[in-house]
Amino acid sequence: MDTILTRPSAAPVIQSLRNIGYNAQTAIADIIDNSLDANATDVHITFEYNSGNGYILIHDNGIGMTDEELQVAMTIGSKDPRIERKERELGRFGMGLKTAAFSLGKRLSVVTKSQGIMSERCWDLDFVSENNEWELLKQIPKDIKEKIGGLESNGTIVFIDKLDRFTGYDSKKVIQPRSFYGKVARVRKYLEMVFHLKLQNGFNIYLNDNFLIPWDPFLSEHPKTIEGETQVIRVNRKRVKITPYVLPHPSAFNESEYKDASGPKGWRDQQGFYIYREGRLVNFGDWFGMFTKDNYSELVRIKIDFNNNSDEDWKIDIKKSSISIPEDAKGNLKAIGKYYRQVSKEIMLYRAKPNKKKDRLKGSLHTWELYNDEANSSYVLNRNHPILIEILKEINDITRKKLNSYLKLIEWGSPNNLLISESMVKKEEEIQELDENKRFIIIEVANSLVSINDEIDIDFIVDSISLIAGFESINRSTIKSFIEKGVLVR
Ligand SMILES: Nc1ncnc2c1ncn2[C@@H]1O[C@H](COP(=O)(O)OP(=O)(O)OP(=O)(O)O)[C@@H](O)[C@H]1O
Ligand SMILES: [Mg+2]
Repeated sequence: MDTILTRPSAAPVIQSLRNIGYNAQTAIADIIDNSLDANATDVHITFEYNSGNGYILIHDNGIGMTDEELQVAMTIGSKDPRIERKERELGRFGMGLKTAAFSLGKRLSVVTKSQGIMSERCWDLDFVSENNEWELLKQIPKDIKEKIGGLESNGTIVFIDKLDRFTGYDSKKVIQPRSFYGKVARVRKYLEMVFHLKLQNGFNIYLNDNFLIPWDPFLSEHPKTIEGETQVIRVNRKRVKITPYVLPHPSAFNESEYKDASGPKGWRDQQGFYIYREGRLVNFGDWFGMFTKDNYSELVRIKIDFNNNSDEDWKIDIKKSSISIPEDAKGNLKAIGKYYRQVSKEIMLYRAKPNKKKDRLKGSLHTWELYNDEANSSYVLNRNHPILIEILKEINDITRKKLNSYLKLIEWGSPNNLLISESMVKKEEEIQELDENKRFIIIEVANSLVSINDEIDIDFIVDSISLIAGFESINRSTIKSFIEKGVLVR
């Protein structure tokens, strides 16, 4: 084939990469993802103002990199996004370290130590622009090295300076200390939110020596928070976990608790789906066009978890700050969202009886419910489950009847109900006493067995039916005569 090698021009490409849409929060979070992937337990972040000529330093105690690994890490596009990543790994595109750093400043220096050996590299965009070549510096400038110091044990230091984007360095618009520290405070809040699950599980982040405190958007420890039952759905055959939460009515908080629970965007804007990828929040407070954000529904926050093997389905972006909902998941999410928005509305409007309401609501969110009458108790499926209601709406009468019978079979056969019924004295049931459901099931099962094998022996059919949970107590001859009375002729 006739080809001509065409190298991308270094200066314009690298300049364009600075504009892929990070803000300070998402950039720092993307760099911390790398520390998590390197099994770090502690990350220290330093923001130094120095009248705009400061730096951002991120130091982790992860496994570090060998010289060769660091060389690859500093390459733009160091890994193919299509390759399968390790379980739990947060990286995907082989870009984050570079693109996140360049969105903050013009110089990225990395010092790392692996198996006791230190390595270093530096990208200086001024130097790249000057020569218009992809020239990576093998040594970090001396003055930076003095600021970084050495590494006592394995780990990595990412140092970003010439912060033209973060502080307005080298321009007429250098930011004032107040806005600098305001920005730092926003970064802090953001990290406390997106890494809250990690921070709760042995991962520590310090920002200018202050310990980050995990912020749980679901207030799951609050006694008045309603936690709906977790649903597992499959999207493209991969598991996605959904756990809905309805937060307490505003009257359950004092002023500072209320403010703290609101989150970075405020109560109304924090409602919606919270999408986690490998336990790291990537997208939050968004209904993805399914609903509007009205005040009545502001108590709903729905947690969704997916794994890195589903990245393509959710179209995760380089910045790990946006996704799009797969078509396959939309129906379920809409049904769940609709239901919990209603719950929120009820709480907002009728807060007078929160306890009673909570009990009632909690029960009706589960797939199984305990049913009690005077004599005994058993578990029944919750027929008001939002997903079931959606399904029942979409199918015709015959299918609905079949589905209902099947759900009955599941109820009768549930291990819990079998244990309960074993302790009860069984009374023989006559066919005329049978409820309509059981009659229908006998017909359905007999017919489906015949449709598989039209020479099937009637005693075999009777045996099969009398083995079904809930049918053991029916007299065999009753079942037989019922089938013989022309059940099989439709
Ligand atoms: N703090 C760190 N400790 C150890 N290795 C690191 C660290 N930061 C980066 N690396 C290595 O450098 C590589 C490139 O990092 P980079 O963030 O650019 O891409 P990525 O994490 O692979 O993917 P993504 O673009 O999705 O973040 C990583 O895959 C990892 O091997
Ligand atoms: Mg990364």
